[in-house]
Amino acid sequence: MISVKGLYHSYSKDDKYAVKDVSFDVPKGEVFGFLGPSGAGKSTTQGVLTGLLQLQRGEATVAGYDLKHIKQEMFNKIGMSFEQSNVYSKLTAKENLKFYAQLFDVKTRDPQELINLVGLSGKEDIKAGEFSKGMKHRLTFARSMINNPEIWFLDEPTTGLDPAIAANIKDIIREQNNKGVTVFLTTHNMYIADELCDRVAFIIDGEIKLIDSPKNLKLAYGEKVVDVEYVDNGERKKETFSTVVKSDKNTLAGILDAKEIVTMHTKEATLEEIFIKVTGRGLA
Ligand SMILES: Nc1ncnc2c1ncn2[C@@H]1O[C@H](COP(=O)(O)OP(=O)(O)O)[C@@H](O)[C@H]1O
Ligand SMILES: [Mg+2]
Repeated sequence: MISVKGLYHSYSKDDKYAVKDVSFDVPKGEVFGFLGPSGAGKSTTQGVLTGLLQLQRGEATVAGYDLKHIKQEMFNKIGMSFEQSNVYSKLTAKENLKFYAQLFDVKTRDPQELINLVGLSGKEDIKAGEFSKGMKHRLTFARSMINNPEIWFLDEPTTGLDPAIAANIKDIIREQNNKGVTVFLTTHNMYIADELCDRVAFIIDGEIKLIDSPKNLKLAYGEKVVDVEYVDNGERKKETFSTVVKSDKNTLAGILDAKEIVTMHTKEATLEEIFIKVTGRGLA
């Protein structure tokens, strides 16, 4: 559904690239994530793939359309939601969706249904200009679904939302994906990437460092550790041991043998820990 080869993008005339030699393929039905810190080049990549930024160098096709010569039809097949909500402040929530719906040549979804879906029911007749940042974000998100897109581009879909609403948004993404929608999602949040993505690309300084499923990454890079809470001379202690390093194993065996164990959990590496191992940098 998405195919990208040797993509570069620069905002200036010098040799500084916001995106450098990026290549990846997203098959139909996948949730593909771009995980990286702020400034990594995620939004720029989404901008090129959604036709907002011109394709400067490299090859890219989306839903079978070559981005070198964008055809208007492509926009019927894709949905996009950006970090900055760009809704019309003078129009109400419902008017915003109705207006946007007219731009498509395909069957569109009922504005009220979408408003309800993102938890804005009762707010449909309020001008978007009076909405909070989070509400605008949800309206933009709802709008991105209006044309029943086959490919859905979501830039930081849950950033800045409170946890309950973020959970709602995640459910909607899953639901759409279960219906066959292919999702390209950018985030600097490892939890979102882990929960939603079939595969993630680690991106930093405009370059993809690796692409794999969260599960494979944890198997390949995850250090196997165990958290042990035990009683030592009447005092509770908590320690973490590697289950691979010999000295740790010996200490752990000693504790298991001699102490009263309160709790013991094996711990997986988080995507952020793996990200740091691979790129040397964090996600913040
Ligand atoms: N409109 C712009 N003009 C100039 N530089 C930009 C513009 N948008 C982004 N950049 C730069 O491009 C790089 C990548 O940005 P971006 O794609 O927004 O990263 P991300 O979405 O991963 O945070 C950053 O160095 C950023 O400062
Ligand atoms: Mg961004």
